[in-house]
Amino acid sequence: MKITIIGTGYVGLVTGACLAELGNDVFCLDVDQRKIDILNNGGIPIHEPGLEEIVARNRAAGRIQFSTDIEASVKHGDVQFIAVGTPPDEDGSADLQYVVAAAKNIGKYMTNFKVVVDKSTVPVGTADRVSAAISAELGARSVTAEFSVVSNPEFLKEGAAVEDFMRPDRIVIGCDQTPQGEKARSQMKKLYAPFNRNHERTYWMDVRSAEFTKYAANAMLATRISFMNELANLADHVGADIEAVRHGIGSDPRIGHSFLYAGCGYGGSCFPKDVQALERTAQDYGLNLLILQAVEAVNARQKQVLGDKMQQRFGENLSGRHFAIWGLAFKPNTDDMRAASSRVLLGELLRAGATVAVYDPVSMQEAKRVLELDFYDAPELLASIRYAANPMDALVDADALAIVTEWKAFRSPDFDEVKARLKQPVVFDGRNLFEPTVMTELGIEYHGIGRSV
Ligand code: NAD
Ligand code: UGA
Repeated sequence: MKITIIGTGYVGLVTGACLAELGNDVFCLDVDQRKIDILNNGGIPIHEPGLEEIVARNRAAGRIQFSTDIEASVKHGDVQFIAVGTPPDEDGSADLQYVVAAAKNIGKYMTNFKVVVDKSTVPVGTADRVSAAISAELGARSVTAEFSVVSNPEFLKEGAAVEDFMRPDRIVIGCDQTPQGEKARSQMKKLYAPFNRNHERTYWMDVRSAEFTKYAANAMLATRISFMNELANLADHVGADIEAVRHGIGSDPRIGHSFLYAGCGYGGSCFPKDVQALERTAQDYGLNLLILQAVEAVNARQKQVLGDKMQQRFGENLSGRHFAIWGLAFKPNTDDMRAASSRVLLGELLRAGATVAVYDPVSMQEAKRVLELDFYDAPELLASIRYAANPMDALVDADALAIVTEWKAFRSPDFDEVKARLKQPVVFDGRNLFEPTVMTELGIEYHGIGRSV
């Protein structure tokens, strides 16, 4: 099938590459010339395991192309995926300017039937806005061409995006019950047929329910995390181990094991903004989603838990103290620094007077870019950050090590070397990578999250 992807970011590039891999003829559009140049020169603009190989293979086979040519992109695809960003507006609602701009471009150049797919995470009712924007452009050109807007939210996780896309646990598609909607439904069915071979994974529903499902999923996952973080903080006080509790409750199939890991807060481009956007949608209808307000507040506090523990141990004034930090990205296997907990920790430590040496396996360059923006008004704090060459280099002369991201590379370090390099053998573990008893046996003072047994 002929597919256009509008917006070649995390979701757009993964969607385009995976659909090309299944034999479709894919046109990826972006307004960012730099991204398109990187892709046309054989590179990829993001770190995502397995993606580079798929892109290279399908480029060589002529099944995927990258361009900034809007008119050509609209002409190309019978199915037009909108996969542009929906960042938070100042009031927390989803900023739909990129989605609407993409819709207008479709209306500006389309001449025949198009299935327009909202792949971006968009509030309930956005499909109507997309339809209106396309219709307005068609009207301005006095062109009659049919189309149908479908909601097909994406559930992939960064760092496992290709795997998640290729082996989805569900595909949610919302279509209209109009003749155009039926036509769109049959094209979507054909496009996703390869994913449904062994068993049906598609949940067909109305458009608004599909839009809502995406926010419900992310809000539920964020709620689980904040719930466990709040219990972990209590566990620290009562002398229980949150990891034992996690196993104890996760074994109940009604609860399940996933997304119950306590830590130093959730970050990334999605949970924080989607929880906020859902709250905003509710407020538009005069409702307050009390649970989600608490989820957000708990997460904001949780991002400070590591810094607070370090100040409890070393004093509020950290002048003259030096710390090592392992992990900067918001989660492993990505270089994404959006809403990363490391940024909050760095702010706390540096503002209290400490110096730091940081290391991340892939996000060092992205971290430098982002931290320069975070501390643009405080160059003296920026100068207190040393970018280490490797994990062990970061430890030299540090008063303690703080772990923020659970990269595999941090899971089994040579603890003798860790102890030898640190000024004092103190570890603050924001992702509960290690067993407290083992650390004590190794002579390391260990501070986990909710593990003060
Ligand atoms: P991103 O910022 O990585 O990519 C968006 C791309 O769209 C950018 O490259 C930008 O230049 C481009 N763009 C903006 N306006 C355009 C236009 N008019 N025409 C063409 N290109 C345009 O964003 P992302 O992380 O891929 O997220 C996209 C959407 O998918 C968001 O709504 C997000 O919530 C949702 N989502 C993201 C993930 C994820 O893991 N990142 C997972 C599921 C859903
Ligand atoms: C999340 C969802 O998992 C995806 O299904 C969804 O498609 C995506 O948002 C989106 O809408 O964009 P992602 O943000 O890439 O994916 O990463 P997650 O693995 O969900 O992790 C998010 C954050 O939660 C990370 O900071 C992670 O460290 C934290 N987390 C996760 C915990 O603190 N505890 C857990 O048990 C799980």
